[in-house]
Amino acid sequence: GPTREAIDPVRYIGNVSSGKQGHAMAAAVARRGAEVLLVSGRTAESSPAGVTVKHVESARDMLAAAEAALPVDVAICVAAVADWRVEGTAKGKLKKARGVPRLALVENPDILAALAHRHAQRPRLVVGFAAETEPDQKRLVAAAAAKRLAKGCDWIVANDVSLDADTIGGETNTVHLVTSAGVESWSAMAKTVVADRLAGRIAVHLDTEAPAA
Ligand code: CTP
Repeated sequence: GPTREAIDPVRYIGNVSSGKQGHAMAAAVARRGAEVLLVSGRTAESSPAGVTVKHVESARDMLAAAEAALPVDVAICVAAVADWRVEGTAKGKLKKARGVPRLALVENPDILAALAHRHAQRPRLVVGFAAETEPDQKRLVAAAAAKRLAKGCDWIVANDVSLDADTIGGETNTVHLVTSAGVESWSAMAKTVVADRLAGRIAVHLDTEAPAA
């Protein structure tokens, strides 16, 4: 789900992510017997059965919670992490009488890239999701493939989050799984089914790949 980046004690920068795909993912891997820590921003989703949930607010909180969970076999980064936070959060409520505030933004840490680029305790498999507003499937896959390389993750699941695609907040998702072996395009399916298929692929991968030395 989304992170929240405080502007002052009562306001924040957020985004429209529902957390549905991430919660479905946690539930799917738990059903296959994984021990799961779900690090989640605020969502309306209920905690999946058999999953430990750590609630966080900001991107920095999320990174700290993810790193505190190491070592893990697999990291699946589904969150809609805010790319920017406000520089110098105000301690008191910003008052309207003071005029329109000018917010300076600074870049947040990239959690997926941080986990994927670790030398110590890098998970054996690091999976990201790429949210693109790109209806053209070829360009969508190309952008996701570039993100996979830039962030250093093993797999990236690309999805079109344009308003027309109805992915954000909706129940279905049309994804492309991009790995070092190539691209697999899956037809539109429920987010729960995407999660289950991906969980299956992860299980097979862990069974067939030798653990890192
Ligand atoms: N991600 C992350 N930390 C961030 C931003 C993104 O861990 N600060 C992760 C997301 O959880 C996802 C992947 O990176 O697994 C791709 O996120 P996405 O929003 O598609 O890409 P961005 O890196 O934000 O790039 P852009 O906004 O330019 O598309």
